[in-house]
This record gives sequence, structure tokens and C-alpha cells, in this order.
Amino acid sequence: MIDLSGFRVLVTGGSRGIGAACCRLFARAGAAVVVQYLASGGKARAVVEELRRISGAPHRAIRCDVTEPSQIEVLFRQVREDWGGLDVLVNNAGVWIHDPLLQLDRTKLDATLAVNVVGPFLCAREAVPLLERSEHGSIVNISSTAGQRGEAYYSPYAASKGAIISATKSWSTELAPRIRVNAVAPGWVDTDMTAEALGGDRRQEALAAIPLRRIATPEDIAAPVVFLASPLARHITGEILNVNGGSVLVG
Ligand SMILES: NC(=O)c1ccc[n+]([C@@H]2O[C@H](COP(=O)([O-])OP(=O)(O)OC[C@H]3O[C@@H](n4cnc5c(N)ncnc54)[C@H](OP(=O)(O)O)[C@@H]3O)[C@@H](O)[C@H]2O)c1
Repeated sequence: MIDLSGFRVLVTGGSRGIGAACCRLFARAGAAVVVQYLASGGKARAVVEELRRISGAPHRAIRCDVTEPSQIEVLFRQVREDWGGLDVLVNNAGVWIHDPLLQLDRTKLDATLAVNVVGPFLCAREAVPLLERSEHGSIVNISSTAGQRGEAYYSPYAASKGAIISATKSWSTELAPRIRVNAVAPGWVDTDMTAEALGGDRRQEALAAIPLRRIATPEDIAAPVVFLASPLARHITGEILNVNGGSVLVG
């Protein structure tokens, strides 16, 4: 039902976890995918091999640190040269760093904001001139439940994900009518990011707070991302789609 044949999609942090699942689902829907990565080159290349088995579209992996403006410029220049344009940007790359307020570590604070906020802003800025020329231009940002209800001991992370929600709403009107901008806000997802936090008894504690009694898989998050980027969502912009198994956000 979702046919993205001819779509050109860039997923930041496509080498692992939620980003890799998004890359696979976009490829299954017929899109060509750039798997952007930083440290996990082998994993990114393995994802591209998988995508090539799924479809013959011109998939590729490109290394880029989303905190480095010059590298982002090179990334988008490569996209322009290879594909001549872009239809979808998924701002997914992120870090989740423990940083309690009373022991606030400035380096950790800066790293969190650089990857989770500055990166999406810089990628969006480079993507917009390409997305404007698309008939289906859209941006999907990955936020978090933490961006809405906060997260003790991870307040820089929570603040970064809250910033992405307000950026999503701001960009949705600033870039309309040519480009739609939405966000997906996951709760707990089983990835490298949460492997330690969901170990042992803590998994049961997390499950107890989720009405659907399951931890999301990366594929559970990829599905709404692909939906929001697809023509099925053509009248949706500025929306934050919570994908959290029914976890209560405030209260
Ligand atoms: N897992 C959860 O429970 C959960 C919940 C809510 C929201 N989220 C959000 O979902 C997104 C994906 O999370 P995940 O769980 O899939 O994380 P993950 O498995 O830890 O993967 C993180 C991805 O981000 C990339 N990345 C990190 N720093 C980067 C940088 N400076 N430049 C470019 N790429 C960079 C990594 O690339 P390399 O490995 O190649 O370096 C990797 O592909 C994040 O924005 C996260 O905050 C996750």
C-alpha cells in the first residue's frame, strides 16, 4: 500500500537500531536510501548490502559526523551529485548520555546538544533546498517521550528531545506548503542505546509502566516514520506521533 518507488531518502544514524530499521523499511517500500553513519562503517555497509538484496535502487552508505558543518555540506553535495535531489530526511542520529544536574559535565552537555539538536538543524538546513524541489518533500525528526515528560538524570537529553519537538512545529509552518515536517517520539526501544538500561530487573520495571506490556522493536518505530514520510500522510504536518505502547506522558 505504501509505494515509495522513486523516493530518495536520507536517514542519519542509519547504521544501527531505529535508523537501520527505517532504512530497511524505506527500501522495502521502493525508496533509494542513504545510510549515514559515523563510527559503525562495517554495520552501515552491511545495511546497504541488505538494502541491495531488497531492491535495485541506488542505495549507499556515507560517513558524516552530524555535529560537523563541513562534513554535512559534503554529505549533501554527494546526495545532490548522486541523486540530483532528495525527498525525505530522517533526523535520527542521537546519543543518550547520563548527566545528573548536580554533577553536570559540560562536555557531556555539549555533546548531547551537538548531536541531538545542532545536527538535525544543520542537516535540515542543507536538505531544504533539495526537499523544496520534490513533490513529496518531508522531514521526520526522532524525538522521545523524554522530550515531553522529562527524564531525571538525563535532563540534557530530555531538553534536546524537547527542542526537537519545538523545531518540528516551527519548521512545519516555516517550510509549508512545499515540505511537511513531523516527529516520532518513541518510548523504550530495544537497541544498543538502551541495552544496559533494560538489563535484568530493570526490564520488568520498564514493562510494568507500559500498558501494552512490550518494549518496542526498532521496526515498531520505523513503521510510523515511513508512514509520515509517505503520501498517505500528505495532510499531516507539525505532528508529534507518540509510539510508546500507551505509556502516560505526564501526570
Ligand atoms: N532506543 C530508545 O529507547 C529510544 C527512545 C526514544 C528515542 N530514541 C531516539 O531514537 C534515535 C535512534 O536511537 P537508537 O536507539 O537507534 O540509537 P543507537 O542504536 O545508539 O544508534 C545511534 C545512531 O546514531 C548515530 N550517531 C551518533 N552520533 C552521531 C554523530 N555525531 N554523527 C552521525 N551519526 C551519529 C550512530 O552512528 P554510528 O554507530 O555509525 O556512530 C548510530 O547509527 C535517537 O535519536 C534516540 O535518541 C531512542
